[in-house]
Amino acid sequence: MSMAPPPPPSYEAPEQGRPAERWSSTMGFVLATAGSAVGLGNLWGFAYRASQGGGAAFVLLYLLIVLVVCLPVLVAEMVLGRSTGHSPLLAPLTAGGRRWAPLGWLYLLVAAGILAYYSVLMGWTGRSLLHALLESLPATMAEAEAYFGAISSGGDAVLGHLISLALTGVVVAAGIRSGIERLSRWGLPLLFLLLLGLAIWAAGLPGAREGYATFLLRWDASKLIDPTTIRNAFTQAFFSIGTGVGAILAYGTYLDRRSAIPAEAALVVGMDTAVALMAGCVTFPVVASFGLGAGVSGSTVGTLFIALPTGLASQGAIGRLVAGLFFALAFIAAITSSVSLLEVPVSSLIDRFGWSRGRAVWLCVAVIAVLGLPPALNVAALERMDAIFGGVLLLSGGLAMALLLGWQAPARFHADLLGSGSPPWLVGALLWALRWLAAPALGLGLAMSSFDLIGRGAG
Ligand code: PFF
Repeated sequence: MSMAPPPPPSYEAPEQGRPAERWSSTMGFVLATAGSAVGLGNLWGFAYRASQGGGAAFVLLYLLIVLVVCLPVLVAEMVLGRSTGHSPLLAPLTAGGRRWAPLGWLYLLVAAGILAYYSVLMGWTGRSLLHALLESLPATMAEAEAYFGAISSGGDAVLGHLISLALTGVVVAAGIRSGIERLSRWGLPLLFLLLLGLAIWAAGLPGAREGYATFLLRWDASKLIDPTTIRNAFTQAFFSIGTGVGAILAYGTYLDRRSAIPAEAALVVGMDTAVALMAGCVTFPVVASFGLGAGVSGSTVGTLFIALPTGLASQGAIGRLVAGLFFALAFIAAITSSVSLLEVPVSSLIDRFGWSRGRAVWLCVAVIAVLGLPPALNVAALERMDAIFGGVLLLSGGLAMALLLGWQAPARFHADLLGSGSPPWLVGALLWALRWLAAPALGLGLAMSSFDLIGRGAG
């Protein structure tokens, strides 16, 4: 006798209002979502934060936070998108009622705010790529700093920002399958290959061992409770996975009802973490081999743009090739992330007002182009926007997601995951982690980064 599985708890018929577009396959969704996660944060943020100290303790905390905090929130975000079928603007309202409507606006604000400065960073990356290929690499740290000053402010930076945003707009305007999915399908495997090649090359450098040992492997147990290390690991994990902004939620709305969300989320998290660690295996040997340690820990956003080309300059043509490949892969990583950020307001306008995709894209691009002018003209403004949008507000979005699906609408979480075939024990464990680990840990992380922001403002 076969037992029919119990019907999932009922919630609003999700097929209503579901967008017509779909990923061509589950793999398409996984690659696009991993493309969103893998970005400049992995290449630049990880190296920068790991170099601020902490060594293996930083890496361990990072892995722990990714597993117990980011993973359940990522699953919740995918569930919220798929089960409501609505954009980031309307999904919280649909799942939680009127009280949750402001969360939709928060997602729009955070995505637009991050994209405004992210496209500036992308512009620097593109400029550095051209520089490595067509001109020469800066030979000394002083030359590199002068060069970085030139690309990171004024007309060059504004132009780079506008071109990057326009490219992002072109991809998003082409649609889910023919734009975003197609880009990730070739971009992500290419990025992996390039990074693997560079990591192998870097392993042969004279300072490779010292590089790994100083930044990734040095063990100091007291760093596990050091507030700076904890805060760095938290901010890095959330920005890198990119949950709490609504981007993955938007991608989730185009997801097939049957696909197994927990396994997909685990794949995404695994790829993102692998890229961060591999990127560390490129940058740290370069830094140690060419004696750039002081420059790296002294600078902030400039790390990648200053230290890397300087180190490679002494390697002649090979150095230029390596720098070119590195900035090319960074640019690919950046654009597969920026499209997911733009999809947040774009899908919301389509969902809320019934606009055409093209109209929504170009209106959002115009607004974000203006928002990006301050960070394009001033590096301090960029760092500030990163602390506000990429730090405090991103964590607030993640906390709200954990509260909405963990506490306000757990039936939706259950129903969606059980209905798509996930085993009950796994769904139970994820819900438990969302409620009792992710929500309190996010509250703590948010408090720490808010104090940090206030402290910086006062200091
Ligand atoms: N995860 C991206 C990175 O590491 O660069 C940045 C990002 C993308 C953040 C998408 C937030 C987001 F929604």
